[in-house]
Amino acid sequence: MAKDVVVDDLGEVEKDFANLARLAASDSLEDTRLLLARLVRKYRQQRPELAALLDQSLKASQTRSVGNNVLRRGISPPAGEANLPVDGDSRLALIRVFDDRKGLAAPILPPNVQDAIGAIIRERKESSRLAAHGISPTRSAILVGPPGVGKTLSARWIASALDKPLWVLDLTAVMSSLLGKTGNNLRAALDHAKTHGAVLLLDEIDALAKRRSDESDIGELKRLVTVMLQEVDQWPDSGLLLAATNHPELVDPALWRRFDLVLKFDAPDAAAIAMAIERFLGEDLKVFAPWLDVLAAGMQGQSLSDVERSINTLRRGHVLQTASAEKLISGAIGQRQESLSKAERLQLAIELAKAGQHTHVQISQMTGVARDTIRKHAGPSPRQGRGHK
Ligand SMILES: Nc1ncnc2c1ncn2[C@@H]1O[C@H](COP(=O)(O)OP(=O)(O)OP(=O)(O)O)[C@@H](O)[C@H]1O
Ligand SMILES: [Mg+2]
Repeated sequence: MAKDVVVDDLGEVEKDFANLARLAASDSLEDTRLLLARLVRKYRQQRPELAALLDQSLKASQTRSVGNNVLRRGISPPAGEANLPVDGDSRLALIRVFDDRKGLAAPILPPNVQDAIGAIIRERKESSRLAAHGISPTRSAILVGPPGVGKTLSARWIASALDKPLWVLDLTAVMSSLLGKTGNNLRAALDHAKTHGAVLLLDEIDALAKRRSDESDIGELKRLVTVMLQEVDQWPDSGLLLAATNHPELVDPALWRRFDLVLKFDAPDAAAIAMAIERFLGEDLKVFAPWLDVLAAGMQGQSLSDVERSINTLRRGHVLQTASAEKLISGAIGQRQESLSKAERLQLAIELAKAGQHTHVQISQMTGVARDTIRKHAGPSPRQGRGHK
């Protein structure tokens, strides 16, 4: 095929360059860093100057990303955990700590996931009763589901319920180490967690598999997976090993099988979205009570993480009085509206009109559907919106 011929014609460096460009353009920092690390190793002998330049970019991206993580996630520094392992080359912390022992609101989850999580916690709390019968508590679980549904949050919640901090092993950091010591790094981090009876989360465990496509790394990948298999097998009853992934299909089946429990997180349903909106509105719930139905309808299909972000924007706008409530609501469901087809938007407008809470002018502002069109489908507008000032 013509496409293959073109690719074959490219030299090795050009191919790597094109690959790097593709990843950088896809906005995936983690993948870009993994590839950078690989290229540094690959070119260290052959093209030392190029390798040094790439290494600089990699180190800069690591510093930035660690800084961002701290800012974005509000992680407390690992107080009292001064000896957490770091990668020898980059001094990059391999383990991040979330300490939620002061309390954390329970994640909003469907009953079956809630029950499974409750069981993990209860087994840990009553492990001596189990031990009296020669039974171990669940030692490991893998949390699977789309982005932003609360996998990491649930891991934090489990740890907080057990009155422990959550340690998160940064697999990207483990795998970015440059001298083929990733296996050692991984083992050091896991050993550290084991000896401390920690609740350890291997976040984005599929990162272990992402290298499979690159043949030069197959040997190293195999070593890593072997380390993981042994570790999961030998995880002590005193610790709890959690893993999370958006890409179950990338996780090695042999590894997959070794987890005691698989927790499946689905995209949130309508009830979960409505509950999340109320929670995220916080003390502004009263102000926005008349629009709860609009918000819930407009945010169907979003992840709870997206819902949270939109609601926070809405609240900021409300406090600073940047626009009318209708405009703010429209903005909050705006992201979703772009992905709504015309027909779906019309459907939303008609539902709102039939509910009779809002005037057609308001509905038109919120949904972007013309007033005439709303009237044609839903009859005349109520004289004025009820339920809000
Ligand atoms: N089920 C939930 N209940 C309450 N809040 C949630 C829930 N899911 C997500 N959130 C909010 O969104 C934020 C991000 O969620 P979280 O990091 O747990 O998602 P995730 O499933 O781990 O996503 P990813 O696969 O992208 O890592 C949480 O900190 C929380 O504020
Ligand atoms: Mg997560």
